[in-house]
Amino acid sequence: MYWCRMHVLVCTANHCTQNGAQQVAARLRLELKRAGLDGEIMVNTCDSIDLCDIGPNIVVYPQGWIYRNVQVSDLPELIESLRTGDRPVERLLLRPDSEDEARRRSLYREAVEQEPLSVEAFAALAERYGFDEAWVAEQARRGFIARKPGEDGDRITVTSKARHRYGLEGAG
Ligand code: FES
Repeated sequence: MYWCRMHVLVCTANHCTQNGAQQVAARLRLELKRAGLDGEIMVNTCDSIDLCDIGPNIVVYPQGWIYRNVQVSDLPELIESLRTGDRPVERLLLRPDSEDEARRRSLYREAVEQEPLSVEAFAALAERYGFDEAWVAEQARRGFIARKPGEDGDRITVTSKARHRYGLEGAG
C-alpha cells in the first residue's frame, strides 16, 4: 500500500545480495505480513546506497534510520522496532559517528595523507584499524581504492568515490 506509515528499503544490489539481502527482504515481507503490519509498513528493494562493505543494508523512512549488516536472525528485533517506529535497533544502526564508521573514516583520512601507498602498507594500515584482507579486497571491488603499477611495485590510491563517501574531498 502506498499510503503507509513507514517505508523500508532493502538494498539488493550486488554486494548486499552476496551477503543475503534477498533472503532478508523476502523474510521481512513475510514476517510483517504475519505480524499484520504489511498494510502500514511498505518494503521495497533498492539499488546500492554505497555502503557495500557493511551490507545487507536497510533504510527506514521517515525516520531515516540506516541499518547495516542485517541478517535474517535480526528481523524479530527489527520488526518490534518498526511496530512502534519510535526507537531504532541501536546495535544495527549506522550513524556518522558510529564506532566502525569512524574507524573507516580515520583509515581513509590517513591513507589519503600517505598515498600512494604500497599494497602492503595499505593492508597494514587497514589491519591497524581492525580491517582484514577481505575488507581490503571489497574496497577495491567497490571502487574505493585503485591499484596501479608503480616503479617499485603496485601502489594504492584512494578514489574520489571514497573521498566523497568519507568527506575527504579537500584532504591529502
Ligand atoms: S550493494 Fe548494498 S549498499 Fe552497495
